[in-house]
Amino acid sequence: ATNRTFTMIKPEAVAAGNTGKILDMIIEAGFKIKALKLTTLSKERAGEFYEVHKERPFYGELVDYMSSGPVVAAILEKDNAVADFRALIGATDPAEAADGTIRKAFAKSKAENAVHGSDSDENAEIEGKFHFAANEIV
Ligand code: CMP
Repeated sequence: ATNRTFTMIKPEAVAAGNTGKILDMIIEAGFKIKALKLTTLSKERAGEFYEVHKERPFYGELVDYMSSGPVVAAILEKDNAVADFRALIGATDPAEAADGTIRKAFAKSKAENAVHGSDSDENAEIEGKFHFAANEIV
């Protein structure tokens, strides 16, 4: 069925000037952009977004990193959006990411891994609403 996922292009990828190339890979893969913005996350907002990872050893680093510079947030629509987007972005660790994936092309490390992708339909909805008001979604 047609459904939605949520993504962020992370600070290192935006700073490196890779936003356009990454959006192009997403569009070429058949995703429709339903919402899009360049924004920043305060430490508080980044902490809230990644609350599920609060007990992980890398939580502090993750929050600092995600609030270190502009990100591009987007809601994407496609058949099987969550799973197909996770396939397009590739493994969390770029050393394990397959050829042709966004992380293989642009990620620098496990932490600076270029893009976020929602892990379920439920989280896609929550994460999309975290970033976008109803009138910002087309
Ligand atoms: P993502 O899968 O989008 O959401 C959780 C994030 O935590 C993940 O991307 C990475 O950016 C980060 N992350 C996961 N594992 C590690 C790790 N071992 N060290 C630092 N950051 C990590």
